Amino acid sequence: MKTYTQNILQVLFICGVIGFFALWQRSSNAWDFIVYTQQWPEAACVDINDTKSSHHHICTMTRNIQTWTIHGIWPSRFDGDGPFYCDNSYPFQESEITNLENIMDNKWPNLIIGTAKTSFWKHEWTKHGTCALNLLDLDCEHKYFKMGLDLNKRFDYKHILEDRNITPSETRYKLADMREAIESFTKSKINMQCIFAKVSYRTAC
Ligand SMILES: *[C@@H]1O[C@H](CO)[C@@H](O)[C@H](O)[C@H]1NC(C)=O
Repeated sequence: MKTYTQNILQVLFICGVIGFFALWQRSSNAWDFIVYTQQWPEAACVDINDTKSSHHHICTMTRNIQTWTIHGIWPSRFDGDGPFYCDNSYPFQESEITNLENIMDNKWPNLIIGTAKTSFWKHEWTKHGTCALNLLDLDCEHKYFKMGLDLNKRFDYKHILEDRNITPSETRYKLADMREAIESFTKSKINMQCIFAKVSYRTAC
């Protein structure tokens, strides 16, 4: 019986950059493109638990979710982040999305322990959703969340990667191969964020 401590490349956290809308007028809330972001929940959990990060949150995975889940839809600028929190006159209202909640519980889960399940949705809406109200396709809360769910169905990274024999495991894969698989499917440039974790485990031999 031996105990090994190994560094394991914990699976990633991908931002699928789907630049599906064009330039918007210049103003303080102007943006150039929209980023659609999905995450691999276990990797997102490692990031949430990271004691070096400033937020001091703890991750919980109450559901066994073995799929890429939605992070958000983010209006973005070419020259940096944002805009953020564009319209505080339109606060998050759970009543607008009651018919989506059952699906969102699985496809858009909040992973932070001790917080309401709606807190992640509320955060994405107020920080990002309110910045895209000027688009007909995203001009209310229900459309914003429905769009996230539709994109999640369309961009099923788990299957896209499985088609290239890239599966959730302790195998190391080349970032370039993952990128190629997703970019050729989405026909978009993507941005990937990898989360590294030190994992200790026992093995019998
Ligand atoms: C995050 O921390 C919680 C509480 O310590 C633990 O139960 C969970 O397994 C951790 N998850 C990961 C992926 O590190």
